[in-house]
Amino acid sequence: MEKIVSLCKRRGFIFPGSEIYGGLANSFDYGPLGFALKNNIKKLWLDRYVNGRSDVFGLDAALIMNPKVWEASGHLKEFVDPLVECKKCHERYRGDQFPNAIVIAGKSVCPNCGGNEFTQPKQFNLMLKTFLGPAEEQANIVYFRPETAQGMFVNFKNILDTMRPDLPFGIAQVGKAFRNEITPGNFIFRTREFEQMEIEFFVRPEEASGKFEYWKDEMMEWMKLVGIDMKKVHEFEQPEGERAHYSARTIDFEYDFPFGRKELYGLANRTDFDLKNHSEKSGIDLRYREEGSEPFYPYVIEPTWGVDRTVLALLDSAYDDSDPKHVVRKLKPALAPYKAAVFPLLANKPQLVQKAQEIFKSLVMSHKSLVPVVYDGRGNIGKRYYAQDEIGTPACITVDFQTLEDDAVTIRDRDTAKQERVGVGELVEILTRNDGR
Ligand code: GAP
Repeated sequence: MEKIVSLCKRRGFIFPGSEIYGGLANSFDYGPLGFALKNNIKKLWLDRYVNGRSDVFGLDAALIMNPKVWEASGHLKEFVDPLVECKKCHERYRGDQFPNAIVIAGKSVCPNCGGNEFTQPKQFNLMLKTFLGPAEEQANIVYFRPETAQGMFVNFKNILDTMRPDLPFGIAQVGKAFRNEITPGNFIFRTREFEQMEIEFFVRPEEASGKFEYWKDEMMEWMKLVGIDMKKVHEFEQPEGERAHYSARTIDFEYDFPFGRKELYGLANRTDFDLKNHSEKSGIDLRYREEGSEPFYPYVIEPTWGVDRTVLALLDSAYDDSDPKHVVRKLKPALAPYKAAVFPLLANKPQLVQKAQEIFKSLVMSHKSLVPVVYDGRGNIGKRYYAQDEIGTPACITVDFQTLEDDAVTIRDRDTAKQERVGVGELVEILTRNDGR
């Protein structure tokens, strides 16, 4: 772990937060390479689960939400950890992670001062508070979101009304979450400010267990794709009583971090807990409606990925020091902060430097990525063109009977309405030309 931390600092991946002021406990800043690695992870995730699918919709909701959200979600009451305090040095511990510190036999010893008297455990709410507006009074208390999930539940009706999806479908979000952890630590493993990539996947109640298995397999595929060492990954079925207040079933994907086996990702069946509670507390009906059946609350399967824990697991999985004089970080090319390095053989030969710079520039300029594509099978073709024009889609591709014979499609340009017949094999090149225009 020390090797990873020092390499991160030395090579510009991760720095201690507010370092020139002596730091702020357990806060970290991602440097240029860490920033690139983290962004590549998020981009791959968004490409795979949002841009690459027609049944998952992206969202970017506010970090600070109406406090009533946290009442309905149960976080104000249930999002607590037991806190015990050493009576001698006043060091605080999480009771469930340091069970012997709870004064049961009066024998436990404080690791900080050796004292052996502790307060009774008291429930400590993990949500980070602040005040909205200039008056610092009770009525103005708001909370930074402790999970991205609730932004997706409160926008459930907006997504239904605007995107008109059929079940099953998902809403996905990547963003910061905040928790006033009692015992943060182990570098970026447990911090008070971190990033999550979450999907709330809405299903018919009877489909919930099948979709739970589906997402379990998907999460395994993701870990293989990014290059997490699968020998270090373990599934842990959380027993009843240990699960979060909203969950009927939870699996943790644990990873053998250098400091022990700990949670990397989670997968939960949140049932209809959130939609039902938000309906009751807001008075807005969040049931799903379809012809031929009574309105009902969908169940929610929630796969959740910590971004920072992905970074840490990758830094560990990719770290190869089998030759101690030559450390290699075997990151997958798609995630590596730089794709290539270009050198002049001799730095004092201007013609070599010039050529190397030319090659470098042409590589930077030629970098392209595939454009996200949407599928639309509703209404007639004219309406679809209008709908796509209105939301700014540069090109519409129509597959017709002729396509089945000649493997060509009609591609229509948004701005000129000009239609062109092109081979399917040319599409990628056409769509990525001029950054997707
Ligand atoms: N919406 C469900 C949820 O938030 P969670 O298991 O509490 O579930 C999801 O958090 C993921 O977020 C975890 O699996 C972990 O990767 C990451 N995570 C949670 N707390 C964290 C912390 N204090 N620091 C860094 N990552 C954290």
